[in-house]
Amino acid sequence: MSISIQPPPPFGPEIRAQFALDPKLTFLNHGSFGSLPLVVRQAQEEWRLRIESNPIEWIGRRNIESLAAVKKPLARFVGCQPNDLGFVTNATEGVNAVLRSLRFEVGDELLTCDHVYNAVRQAMKFRAQETGARVVEVPIALPVRDQDHAMNCILNAITPRTRLIVIDHITSPTALRFDVRKIIDAVKGTRAQVLVDGAHAPGALDLSLDALGADFYSANLHKWTMAPRGSAFVWVAPQFQKDVHPCVISHEFANGFAAEFDWQGTRDLSAWNSISAALAWFEELGAERVLRHNHQLAAWAHQLLCAELSFEPISPLDGSMLSCMASVRLPNALRSKFEKPEAFQKQLLDVDHIEIPVFDWNQQWLFRLSAAIHNEPAQYERLVVALKKYLA
Ligand SMILES: Cc1ncc(COP(=O)(O)O)c(C=O)c1O
Repeated sequence: MSISIQPPPPFGPEIRAQFALDPKLTFLNHGSFGSLPLVVRQAQEEWRLRIESNPIEWIGRRNIESLAAVKKPLARFVGCQPNDLGFVTNATEGVNAVLRSLRFEVGDELLTCDHVYNAVRQAMKFRAQETGARVVEVPIALPVRDQDHAMNCILNAITPRTRLIVIDHITSPTALRFDVRKIIDAVKGTRAQVLVDGAHAPGALDLSLDALGADFYSANLHKWTMAPRGSAFVWVAPQFQKDVHPCVISHEFANGFAAEFDWQGTRDLSAWNSISAALAWFEELGAERVLRHNHQLAAWAHQLLCAELSFEPISPLDGSMLSCMASVRLPNALRSKFEKPEAFQKQLLDVDHIEIPVFDWNQQWLFRLSAAIHNEPAQYERLVVALKKYLA
C-alpha cells in the first residue's frame, strides 16, 4: 500500500518544551493519562497557593463562584449550558454517577459493545447485579469497515427491554471514533437512554453536547484538553438532572443537579479551577489547529505502520474512524516472542525507550499510538524501526 496522508508540520520545540516529558523517551501514549503543559502546571500551583492562603475563603465561601467561572468557558468548549455540567474527578466516576442513579428493573437490558472500557463494563455489571438488570455486550468484529458497520451492530441488538445504551465516543483499546449520533437519534422517543463515554473526546473532537442530544455524557479533561488530572465532568440532559446524583451524597442532596455536584465534600479544588487555564492555552494554540494536527498525525502514522510493516488495518486507512489515536493489530509472529502484551510493552520501553500501550483485546494483541502536540513524525519512524527489529 502507499501512504496517501502527509504528516502535519510539527508544533515545534517551543511547544515541546512545555511538557516535562523525558527527552530520551519516545512518548506515544498521551491517551492514557495525558501530560500536563507548563502553563497549566503553573496555573494549578497558583490555585494551590491561593487556596492555602485562606482555605475557608476558597473552599468554603468562594467555591461556587469559582466553579461557575470555570463552567462558562468549559460549556463553550463542549457546546452546552454551564449548569448542565457537573464536575467529577474522572470519567469512570461520571459513568458511575449515572449508572448508580438510574433505576433499573429486573430484566432491563444495559447494552454496550465489546470495545467498551473495562472499568465501565465492571460498573455496568455491578449495577446490573444490584438491580436484576442484564448487561448485553455485542461484538463489533475487526476490521471495522465504516461507521454503519459499527453502529448497526449496536442498533441490531436493541430490544424493547433495552433501558440504557453505553457507547464510547472514542474507544480505548481499539481507538475508534464512533458516530454515536446514529444511536442517539435511533432511540429518541423510546425508553432506551444513551450514556456516551466521552473519556477521550474533549480536545480530540469538536464537541457540541447540546446538538448531540445524548441523555448523559461523561468525559475526562486531563487527556486531550490537557487540564490537570482530576478534572472531568458529567453532562446530563436537563430533563434527567433531577434523577442523577454524584457518587458522594453530601449536604446538597435534593437541592438540584448543579448544587449537588458543586459540593461533594472537602476536595482539592485546584484541578477543577485550573481547567480555565487549559482551555485558554488550547484557544491560544488554536483549537482547530490542534485537532487537525493530532488527527492528521494519527492518520499518517497509522498508514505508515500498515505500509512499512504490512499490518492489516483494523479500521479504514483514510483515517475516517480515527481521532488522535490509532490501534494496530500485532501479527502472531510477534506474539510468539513475548509471553504477555505487558512484556512486549516493557521491552519497547526498556530497550527502545518507546512508551506505547499494548493490549490483549479479545485474544488479539493491539497497540495504540497517540498523536499529541508534543509528538512529531520522527517518533513514529523510530517506532517502525523498533518493530521491524522484533518482526525480523
Ligand atoms: C473509553 C474510556 N472510558 C473511560 C475511561 C476511564 O477514565 P478514568 O480512568 O480517568 O476514569 C477511559 C480511560 O482511559 C477510557 O479510555
